[in-house]
Amino acid sequence: CSQIPEAWRFDCYPERGVVVTAEMCHARNCCFIQNSQAKTSGWNGVPWCFYTPEYPSYELVSITDTEIGKVGKLLRNKKTYYPKDIDALQLEVLYEDNRLHVKITDPAEKRYEVPIDVPVVPKTASSNPSYTVDFIKEPFGLIVKRTQTGTVLLNTSIAPLFYADQFLQMSTSLPSRFIYGLGEHRSNFLHDLQWNTLTMWARDVPPMELTNLYGVHPFYLSMESDGMAHGFFMLNSNAMDVALQPAPALTWRMIGGILDFYVFLGPDPSSVIAQYLDVVGKPAMPIYWALGYHLCRWGYKSSDKTWNVVKEMRNYGIPQDVQWNDIDYMDSALDFTYDTMNFSTLPDLVKDLHKHDQHYVMILDPGISNSLPSGSYWPFDEGKKRGIFINDSNGDILTGKVWPGLTAFPDFSNPDTHEWWYQNLKSFHEKVPFDGVWIDMNEPSNFFDGSLNGCPENELENPPYTPGILGGTLKAKTVCASARQKISTHYNIHSLYGLMEAKATESALRKITDKRPFVISRSTFPSQGKYSGHWLGDNRSQWKDLATSIPGMLTFNILGIPLIGADICGFGGSTTEELCVRWTQLGAFYPFSRNHNSIDEQENFLPSEPTAFSPAARIAMKEVILLRYSLFPHLYTLFHHAHISGHTVATPLLFHFVSSGGEEHFQQIIYTHILYIKYIYIIISGQPLNLIVSLSEDGLAKGDLYWDDGETLDTYEKDQYAYIYFTVEQNTMTSEVLHNHEEAAYITVETVSFYGVKVEPENVTVNSQEAAFTYHDNQVLTVTDLGLNLSRNFTINWM
Ligand code: NOJ
Repeated sequence: CSQIPEAWRFDCYPERGVVVTAEMCHARNCCFIQNSQAKTSGWNGVPWCFYTPEYPSYELVSITDTEIGKVGKLLRNKKTYYPKDIDALQLEVLYEDNRLHVKITDPAEKRYEVPIDVPVVPKTASSNPSYTVDFIKEPFGLIVKRTQTGTVLLNTSIAPLFYADQFLQMSTSLPSRFIYGLGEHRSNFLHDLQWNTLTMWARDVPPMELTNLYGVHPFYLSMESDGMAHGFFMLNSNAMDVALQPAPALTWRMIGGILDFYVFLGPDPSSVIAQYLDVVGKPAMPIYWALGYHLCRWGYKSSDKTWNVVKEMRNYGIPQDVQWNDIDYMDSALDFTYDTMNFSTLPDLVKDLHKHDQHYVMILDPGISNSLPSGSYWPFDEGKKRGIFINDSNGDILTGKVWPGLTAFPDFSNPDTHEWWYQNLKSFHEKVPFDGVWIDMNEPSNFFDGSLNGCPENELENPPYTPGILGGTLKAKTVCASARQKISTHYNIHSLYGLMEAKATESALRKITDKRPFVISRSTFPSQGKYSGHWLGDNRSQWKDLATSIPGMLTFNILGIPLIGADICGFGGSTTEELCVRWTQLGAFYPFSRNHNSIDEQENFLPSEPTAFSPAARIAMKEVILLRYSLFPHLYTLFHHAHISGHTVATPLLFHFVSSGGEEHFQQIIYTHILYIKYIYIIISGQPLNLIVSLSEDGLAKGDLYWDDGETLDTYEKDQYAYIYFTVEQNTMTSEVLHNHEEAAYITVETVSFYGVKVEPENVTVNSQEAAFTYHDNQVLTVTDLGLNLSRNFTINWM
């Protein structure tokens, strides 16, 4: 046992809150070495109880070729220490292009599988794939190597494989300590491998380190030491731990479902993300106004108070595209109602917003009050009639508690619920013509643990192993794991609640507005970006929260949800003027930029609207919001690339510097500046447009612009867009209209600034005509008053 280096000890006793003794450990046939440094064993330190190299696992007893890969049979002949081992398993290895797909299932009985559509590939990858797969027969293991370099990307033979009914475990070595993703957690962008266990199970809790949060994303991006990158996705929605250790290695520990995973070959980080999104789905193209500045508050006591904020913003000329309302607008916190006393002017406010080309978004929570007199609240009465609520294990509607008091929870895994949700939204839209929906509390959050009546004692509520969930039980602040939903038990689909609600909301909005739906969801799961954006939840008005919003935003970009931001100025507690100014300056670069603030019954806290501060602060905020607005053409084009090609919108710098540095470099660059214009890029800003050209050492640059009407559904898919490509080489900028559309004809290019022109030009021509220009010693050439129509090709040359 002592031969096994500490970093390579795989935890044989991962149960939380247990001080493992030699006796307990030996009962599991594992090695026991008490580590004097760590107070406790396991998830946050070197395990005291760990597997021996001989620990029984599965044997690969047969393997044969198929059209698309291999199929094999795995057998276990010794039981593990968890009940209901599945002794015979089917291994399916699918050699897909640029990715490997592996499924390990129970051939005897169909188990729960995550209901998201993934591509079905009929034929095997090219004859020369970018990876090789070695099969180890006993103990069974898979080793995936990058063909080009021989780097081992996955090696599951380093610890035993478990596949019991409620405990699946697979470990792998990692090629470096550079691993990113694995949301939703509050952490650095780069994960710490120092015995760091990340638990996943959707949970309503203000973001804090080392706990499960609102969303679940079992995907990681990993850098190899030569700068190449690969990704890994575990398609599983059950509660799980992802245990990171310094070997470097990682262990997946899940309490249900199947083993279904992908390795993405990259080889650069950006391609890894695109390949991941090929599987789970690329993000939706947002409606243009989504890029604007959003203002929200929990605690606007009336529609007039809300309206005043809007008016003040207008008076000060601070751009604002969207005004939001939190639960205050509702009558007694009831969905699909508004308070006709305090919010009597809400419909007028919304009309006024529309008149000013502004938009309105309101909150909806999933909890539907179940205790109003029958016949007085259609959402519950009708929902009950249609049987669309989550039931308890006896088949009765489960009662929880949220803002309106006792509530039932719609079961969004049922298509009938989507129809009911749509009808509710539609009739509310007839009263208050909202433009987008904010779906909150959808973990789903419950003020009870489980339900009004608690939860039964059974194996779903008390599984043989419970991951490191906040509260220690699956039911903590949510509905019972044994609750019944249309497609499965809540135990299996809990963490999909936000995704399914987002799907229902997105499709309802499509039908109601016939425009691109705007949905922001608190709980998220892979493929969420297709339906909604996300915000980072209930942060606090503290500098630390400002800082952690950056890794949060970058992580959600690599998880395929680029429409992401944090509550600007902080949600909980009182902000300060300096914090709020700085946060507005940072938040102006979030892909989704919303100032939101918590309720303050005592009215002790500073409000956080820009209009609430001193003139100097207000002006600083206004300037940076204007700067954001000037960058919309660029930001919109980035979203287009996210939608079409699976790119990030806020991109970690390491994506641009993978090959130029060693390991330290990866770490350094992720801490560098907000908006980094890498040489060689052209940024398009303003309206009329200003082109900012950042030339490379040898005078090259490139950039592009996607343009459409900003709201019509599927403009790219329906060819209703303009796309212009700009290049610079040999002192000549060329704009090429690769796809034309009348929308581009309304736009002119007014100014182009070339940064990095080393010698002062003697003359500049625009479409072969001489043009006026300025040149500064800092190597900036500016050509102004261009008036060039974007829908026609042009050239600018300097000599
Ligand atoms: C929790 C949300 O995270 C927060 O943003 C919202 O203000 C409150 N719920 C009240 O609806």
